[in-house]
Amino acid sequence: MDELTDLATLEEEAFAALRGAESEDALNDWFSRYLGRKGTVTLAVRRVGSLPKEARPAYGQAVNQLHQRLEAALTERQKDVKRAALKAEMVETTFDPTLPGRRPEVGHVHLSNQTLREIYAIFQQMGFQVYDGPEVESDAYNFELLNIPAGHPARDMWDTFYTTTPGYLLRTHTSPGQIWAMREYAPEPIRVILPGKCFRYEQVTARSEMMFYQVEGLVVGKNITMADLKGTIVAFVRQMFGQERKLRFRFSHFPFTEPSVEVDMDCVLCGGKGCRVCKHTGWLEIMGAGMVHPVVLRNGGYDPERFSGFAFGMGPERIAMLKHGIDDIRYFFSNDVRFLSQF
Ligand code: PHE
Repeated sequence: MDELTDLATLEEEAFAALRGAESEDALNDWFSRYLGRKGTVTLAVRRVGSLPKEARPAYGQAVNQLHQRLEAALTERQKDVKRAALKAEMVETTFDPTLPGRRPEVGHVHLSNQTLREIYAIFQQMGFQVYDGPEVESDAYNFELLNIPAGHPARDMWDTFYTTTPGYLLRTHTSPGQIWAMREYAPEPIRVILPGKCFRYEQVTARSEMMFYQVEGLVVGKNITMADLKGTIVAFVRQMFGQERKLRFRFSHFPFTEPSVEVDMDCVLCGGKGCRVCKHTGWLEIMGAGMVHPVVLRNGGYDPERFSGFAFGMGPERIAMLKHGIDDIRYFFSNDVRFLSQF
């Protein structure tokens, strides 16, 4: 049976050629040569029809099996060639699979927010709730209702950015939140802190930014006195800066509080002896405060004959600066991770 001998020769030749093919291109060539449309194995399959009847079954079976064996061998060979190519590439590029992966950069809470959270935690212990007011305010809430009428000289201290809608501006302090809270809760007692962003149209310097945070405090109720104000602020400052801190309440003026005070604490750096940070006074100013002005109480819906209250306002960036010895407020919002990652 000649044709079966031919098949055996073809098989030997095809397998030898397959072993010799070492690239994808070589395998493609091999495929066209043996299994392609005009490949020798394909032609051998077609030969079945031209054989005498009695020779067909044996030949047909043999050639089909050969075709299948070659196809299976090609698939295997393709895998080997791919694996070899990958191995060669790893050696060439000195890829080291044992190296650790790259760590993704993970951020962390911004120093302003860290400070805000510390402040919340301290006031939370004293029964204060957090109350949110809007950053875009009406002139009425930011000034008028806080006893700062148009043309009042105190407005110079709180110059701001105005929106294109007349009468609306970016709030210059969190104090308008006092009105929001009072109008929501009157005549119930209030104990809230009001954190948030404030804006000022000002020269940006090491001590003043045009955007910064404030935390306002507001307590309204029956028989609230200056002693409550002092006790609350002393408790806060000592938890924030250490139990040994001394405080000083200096007479001051805000249109929305009466009497008004400026709160100083002894310098955290020199302990009151006088240094560069406290400008050799021994004291650091940390907040403004006072008893809520009767006009403001009335604007909030409380009868000043029956209710009284106190309020305070502080800047968490300033608190953080004193706590961490930071000498320029502009670092907070200039987005330099070399600064931010330190805290
Ligand atoms: N709103 C004042 C400021 O921005 C601070 C303050 C708040 C003073 C509450 C007294 C009472 O300077």
